[in-house]
Amino acid sequence: MEFYLDTANIDEIAAARKLGLIDGVTTNPTLLSREGGDWQAQAKKICDLVDGPVSLEVVGTTAKEMVAEAEELVNFGSNVVVKIPMIEEGLVATKELTARGIKTNVTLVFSAMQALLAAKAGATYVSPFVGRLDAIGQNGMEVVSQIRTIFDNYGFRTNILVASVRHAGHVLDSAALGADVITVPYSVIKQLAAHPLTDKGLASFLADWKKLTG
Ligand code: G3P
Repeated sequence: MEFYLDTANIDEIAAARKLGLIDGVTTNPTLLSREGGDWQAQAKKICDLVDGPVSLEVVGTTAKEMVAEAEELVNFGSNVVVKIPMIEEGLVATKELTARGIKTNVTLVFSAMQALLAAKAGATYVSPFVGRLDAIGQNGMEVVSQIRTIFDNYGFRTNILVASVRHAGHVLDSAALGADVITVPYSVIKQLAAHPLTDKGLASFLADWKKLTG
């Protein structure tokens, strides 16, 4: 499973890169707006810094607007994946962009049906938002499981990119279900390696070593 970082923050990307965990980055309008300043300069900086795919999202709501924006976004770097909202016009845009050889990430996916439609439109990635589903009392991972089954049933090559991740359990469940990619906020990346028994064990090893060596 590939790990992407869900951020538009350069310091977070640099720190996660150092850990050697990051295969790509996903952004969205909210994440870029949090950084402030010139979003285009920021997006270009991210594309330069990251070796793998970088998702940049369109804000148009018609297929025509989305395709036009996508044509601009792909100039930011050869690693750009264009994020398209899962609405009917988004499906039209996805089909058109796929025909032009532009990679797409269909975002705001909340059901396996939506994922099926995105795959039929030729999406490179679909992004089910598991945390936001959990937050309204639905089961985000159940949707991921259904998407995996459907894609395997029909041999869709669209990658399942689990998004809206809230905790390490989402990461583990995604791996167990065979998701292709997970995009993780930096706060959750920090949780992944940590275990209290590791800290306790290390402290005791070091204390014993100090006793031996003074
Ligand atoms: O980038 C898409 C997605 O991961 C956003 O998640 O935290 O806004 O629900 P969140």
